[in-house]
Amino acid sequence: MLVEKNVPLQPYNTFHIVAKAQTLVRIASVADVQTLLADPDLGPAPKFVLGGGSNIVITGDVKPVVLKVEVMGRALVRETSKAFIVEAGAGENWHDFVTWTLDQGYPGLENMALIPGTVGASPVQNVGAYGVELQDRFESLDAVDLQTGQLFTLNAAQCAFGYRDSVFKHGASMAAARVAGAQVAGHQTLGLKDRALIVRVRFALPKAWKAVLGYADIEKKMAEHDCTEPTARQIYDWVCAVRRAKLPDPAVIGNAGSFFKNPTVTAEQCVDIIARDPKVVHYKMDDGSVKLAAGWLIDSCGWKGKSVGQAGVYEKQALVLVNRGAGTDGNGATGGEVMTLAKAIQTSVYERFGILLEPEPVVV
Ligand code: EPU
Repeated sequence: MLVEKNVPLQPYNTFHIVAKAQTLVRIASVADVQTLLADPDLGPAPKFVLGGGSNIVITGDVKPVVLKVEVMGRALVRETSKAFIVEAGAGENWHDFVTWTLDQGYPGLENMALIPGTVGASPVQNVGAYGVELQDRFESLDAVDLQTGQLFTLNAAQCAFGYRDSVFKHGASMAAARVAGAQVAGHQTLGLKDRALIVRVRFALPKAWKAVLGYADIEKKMAEHDCTEPTARQIYDWVCAVRRAKLPDPAVIGNAGSFFKNPTVTAEQCVDIIARDPKVVHYKMDDGSVKLAAGWLIDSCGWKGKSVGQAGVYEKQALVLVNRGAGTDGNGATGGEVMTLAKAIQTSVYERFGILLEPEPVVV
């Protein structure tokens, strides 16, 4: 366990917002967590678990003890008749892990290539792209209870995955209503926000691999390449190309991916929205509800390219907020500017369409 004081967090959040952690502890193993919890000062202190920092907006210096998860390792741990069970340490870079699984001959994660962040953060918001979500490939995870130090394992049902959502995003009271029977180390049913530190995640990658197609951007690539049965490697390459063309690379322009979730409305609400603008991009869901493209809603309110201070709306994809001043000079956007911009977008979309957009990142 490595304890550091007054640590700049700019390199550890993909928005590249300038802020400091008063105390940052690097966690490389379960033993490190247990040492931390036994420490008379750090043990009882409030804590914030930091993964790849790709889904957070930091609005000031962080007072809780920042736990930077650096548990590494990736391996095939088991094979069943149906799937390869592959495990990765929470500190592994997500995209590198996806690449590694393909190199090893275990396809299944290719649609989720190039999502920024770490393996440990991926279940927290049930990452997803081009028709595949983490929950479709998830087997189980190991986490440490930050109150008791106990190591526990959760299956998919216990993680209560939803669209960009899981038990790890909710506190005790909210999750109790949502999570059917998630029992943690003998405790009552609980939400696990600020409670669990994920150390390892296992994925079930099906031996009978089948391409997940049907997404407009991928269909376009298939037509361009005159290909009807792409390999996993081709899908991986196309997803990388589409993302590089559409989404800003956080290494170059600070951002946290999609800033808002795509909202779901009832069929009647959708009729009302279509009456306001017939061009609204929407997708019918299996349960009769309708998903709206938040990027389109924001775009149609004229936000592309607009800014508040150094926080801006990305020119090529209105769903992504960017830090225009990201650099090492400290002149970048503040978390406050990002949130002011986000609130102005929410207000304008609400006034035009009657829809309140819900932010995706965690505000720290
Ligand atoms: N659109 C516009 N203007 C915009 C942005 C989008 O008109 O400025 C329209 C597009 O033309 C398209 C529709 O909105 O018809 C949807 O856009 P896109 O296919 O780019 O996907 P998205 O809904 O904006 C979601 C995920 C992305 C994921 C892609 C591909 C969410 C919140 N976002 O974006 O995830 O990569 O689909 O699956 O669900 C992320 O979560 O950080 C993320 C990037």
